[in-house]
Amino acid sequence: MENINKYIARSLEDYNKLYNQSVSNPESFWEKIASTFVWRKKWNNVLSFDFKKPEFKWFVGGKLNISENCLDRHLLDRADQTAILFEPNDPKEKSQEISYKELYQRVCKFSNVLKNNNIKKGDRVCIYMPMVPELTVAVLACARIGAVHSVVFAGFSSTALAARINDSECKMLLTADGSFRGNKTIALKEIADQALINCNTIDTTIVLKRTGQKVLMNSNEKWWHDEILKVDELCDATEMDSEDMLFILYTSGSTGKPKGMVHSCGGYMVYTAYTFLNVFQYNPGDVYWCTADIGWVTGHSYIVYGPLLSGATSVMFEGVPSYPNFDRFWKICEKHKITHFYTAPTAIRALAKHPISYVENSDLSSLKVLGSVGEPINKEAWNWYNDNIGHNKCPIVDTWWQTETGGIMLSSLAGVTMQKPTYATKPMIGIQPVLLDLEGNELIGSDNEGVLAIKFPWPSIARTIYGDHDRYKNVYFSTYPGYYFPGDGALIDSKGNFRITGRVDDVVIVSGHNLGTAPIEDVINSHPNVAESAVIGFPHEIKGNALRAFVILNDENNCKEIVNEIKNLVSKTIGPIAKPDIIQIVPGLPKTRSGKIMRRILRKIASNDIDNIGDVSTLLNPEVVDLIIIGSKDF
Ligand code: WTA
Repeated sequence: MENINKYIARSLEDYNKLYNQSVSNPESFWEKIASTFVWRKKWNNVLSFDFKKPEFKWFVGGKLNISENCLDRHLLDRADQTAILFEPNDPKEKSQEISYKELYQRVCKFSNVLKNNNIKKGDRVCIYMPMVPELTVAVLACARIGAVHSVVFAGFSSTALAARINDSECKMLLTADGSFRGNKTIALKEIADQALINCNTIDTTIVLKRTGQKVLMNSNEKWWHDEILKVDELCDATEMDSEDMLFILYTSGSTGKPKGMVHSCGGYMVYTAYTFLNVFQYNPGDVYWCTADIGWVTGHSYIVYGPLLSGATSVMFEGVPSYPNFDRFWKICEKHKITHFYTAPTAIRALAKHPISYVENSDLSSLKVLGSVGEPINKEAWNWYNDNIGHNKCPIVDTWWQTETGGIMLSSLAGVTMQKPTYATKPMIGIQPVLLDLEGNELIGSDNEGVLAIKFPWPSIARTIYGDHDRYKNVYFSTYPGYYFPGDGALIDSKGNFRITGRVDDVVIVSGHNLGTAPIEDVINSHPNVAESAVIGFPHEIKGNALRAFVILNDENNCKEIVNEIKNLVSKTIGPIAKPDIIQIVPGLPKTRSGKIMRRILRKIASNDIDNIGDVSTLLNPEVVDLIIIGSKDF
């Protein structure tokens, strides 16, 4: 087997050389990278694709199991090395170092638990768990027996959980009694119970004991610790086709229900590992920490799969950056001698607000590489990160990608390629980004601004939206035929560096989380006293963007009460992250003659840019703009 290190760029020349190979002959390039993994059977051909269908198949006919690549193949050379380093919410609780061998054993056993409970290849298993090692065990155990995991972030409400379980008809739910988050204990099982009232596909629920709080257990609900006692130690990995489904992960869309993005085994494996090693320049002995939750794609690709495929030590943190104090991140860096720290701009901005002594009291000298993900990083946050955390000696990788792309698409390679503050910079090896104008023409050359598109497939592109291939086609491949359209705007500087300018659709990134405005409006409109609403994003100092809802009420008595009810309704139905920061009760909404709400105008009002509202004469109801500005009430 070839060694992947041969193909990792260690210099700018390497990057240029590898990049050129990867675009001039993608198939022969990716074949070489794929050859560095364990396959039960080699592929017949590397790639077949059709942007019109759309259909993408990588390593066609190849057979493998990704958990075997994450675990079994490391047993020879790094059995005793720490795979998962777990840092609990409470700093007084002991951290855990789980070696590759132990993780392998735990995954094998839990795979047998799944099998014992009648889970078979292709069945969907919903995972609604706190950030504890068992979450990683559950993910890998599903992968090992060919069950499709659908991890739902444990901050989501019961309604959101139920919708996700039902959409992919999950057969099993894995959850915990509760979860610790800062000084709060969240009753996860209770939320799951609520969700299950509206789900009828779940046969069995397995519950991990984490907090010890009292929970109700039905006859088809079993304790994790009981189940684990009933099984054998060994579990052979199930042979999977390269294109078999590995997981579903839901992301918000501009309209309607969440999209269950489907990733498949072979391509996702090759791409996440390859990008992990290139971007972070991880070396043996390094301790890598991504602060994301495994409920999001960043956690899937760069806490679990990418690092474990690469034999890295990956840190899992259960808690929050503010508990017990605002120095928690830095204390963890000191305690575990973190070398690679990967977080979101929203966390950086929030922590930068606190006295610098929180940072200065920790020894950050082990840090070598810093990363940013989830939203554009503004200059101030970048500088603060660089000066105070990296002490001007750590490269910062600003990684642009999406749930749909599976892995990092644009980023510098730490210490290898040039970095530029606020720029995600260059495409990953194998990625062919372009800028398009609104008519879909490619903007050739540098110093341009347009919408971002990708013109050639890469191994970890999502294959479909679960149960809705038409929507997949419409959202990503129809606006600009022949390209993958991610929904972001970008500009390119004179040296070919990309900078993401933000979403060009009705998705707002709040604290790094994607939120479609339409689903939030649906919830607000379901309040009996709401006539109509429009939700938009506006710039926010810490969260990047915050949400503002413009709401027309049927009856404006008791506004305050209704506003609270609306906030609770959103929180309960979608989750607290979707709760608007401001609810503005308005007499009307600006509309085009065809009845479409002019969100552009609302955005201007929300960002206090009233002078630049532009021409409103084409509106159906131009008078409403002044009424909103003068006469509405904010809550
Ligand atoms: C945004 C997260 C600017 C972008 C991995 C994208 C970014 C959406 C960056 C995907 C970045 C992510 N710079 N914007 N470095 N990273 N985004 O699916 O709008 O949760 O389309 O995946 O986040 O969010 P998702």
